Amino acid sequence: MNTHKPTLVLGGRGKTGRRVVARLTARGLPVRIGSRFGEPPFDWEDRSTWAPALKGAGAVYISYHPDIAIPGSVKKVRAFADLALEKGVRRQVLLSGRGEEEAQLAEQAVQETGADLTIVRCAWFMQNFSEDFMREGIIDGELVLPAGDELEPFVDADDIADVAVAALTDERHIGELYELTSPRVMTFPAAVGEIARATGRDIRYAPVTLEEWAAGAAESGVPAEIVEFLTYLFRDILGNNPYLTDGVQRALGREPRDFSAYARATAATGVWNSSPVTA
Ligand SMILES: NC(=O)c1ccc[n+]([C@@H]2O[C@H](COP(=O)([O-])OP(=O)(O)OC[C@H]3O[C@@H](n4cnc5c(N)ncnc54)[C@H](OP(=O)(O)O)[C@@H]3O)[C@@H](O)[C@H]2O)c1
Repeated sequence: MNTHKPTLVLGGRGKTGRRVVARLTARGLPVRIGSRFGEPPFDWEDRSTWAPALKGAGAVYISYHPDIAIPGSVKKVRAFADLALEKGVRRQVLLSGRGEEEAQLAEQAVQETGADLTIVRCAWFMQNFSEDFMREGIIDGELVLPAGDELEPFVDADDIADVAVAALTDERHIGELYELTSPRVMTFPAAVGEIARATGRDIRYAPVTLEEWAAGAAESGVPAEIVEFLTYLFRDILGNNPYLTDGVQRALGREPRDFSAYARATAATGVWNSSPVTA
């Protein structure tokens, strides 16, 4: 790889992107953070920002916002990959999701550009419990979700970043599709149980119907498009992928991290501590 040109990391302040940035930086490799607040800024909603962000880059980590499974992602991701190629950024690593029609179409669309591509196709991230929409429920001691007993092999964002950085820095990963899971399928109630044990707190999983959950989320101010998307995820996607894959092993030659290790390490950071009671 060209070690002088920066790698553009889209979503470089997000769950996976910031881990990719940290790893590249730790290796002494130049990085450009793709962010609406970056220099130059990058905004999926403003195509005039794409070319300046790509200028002079040697590789790009493509993490689409808001979600690669959302209708409209295929066209945008394809247009970005095309522009990247036009600007000479051949090396591309695409973050994708499992069992999602739109995500698989986006993968295909980027493949068709002829870029030097690696696809990192992931299960649900463990970090959704600690850095995203489920964190508040964990802090409150009750995670209300319509997830039932569906099984999911949550994957650790640290493993995702390790695979992405391997792909960005080693040409042997060109053309590979790595499907990443942890070593264990588990239910959401079991995941919450692991977090309760790791924190030593009383945290319970509260099952609700999809309709009850959507009404509650809307009432508590979650934006309509997020409620709609999560409803789609819980109704149509969750439960489709209750099997393990060997992407971490193939890409890195080691086992993926288990949920209990994630829960212990995350609990130790204090992000799940209950909020202080204010008078
Ligand atoms: N969560 C899961 O379980 C899961 C599973 C499989 C696949 N995925 C895929 O993973 C991707 C998300 O990756 P992630 O979780 O690492 O990211 P993330 O934590 O959701 O963060 C994404 C970043 O997107 C940026 N952003 C917001 N609006 C933007 C815009 N208009 N243009 C450009 N950037 C914008 C924000 O950065 P700034 O504020 O700095 O702009 C934010 O830090 C999605 O495509 C999703 O489909 C997620």
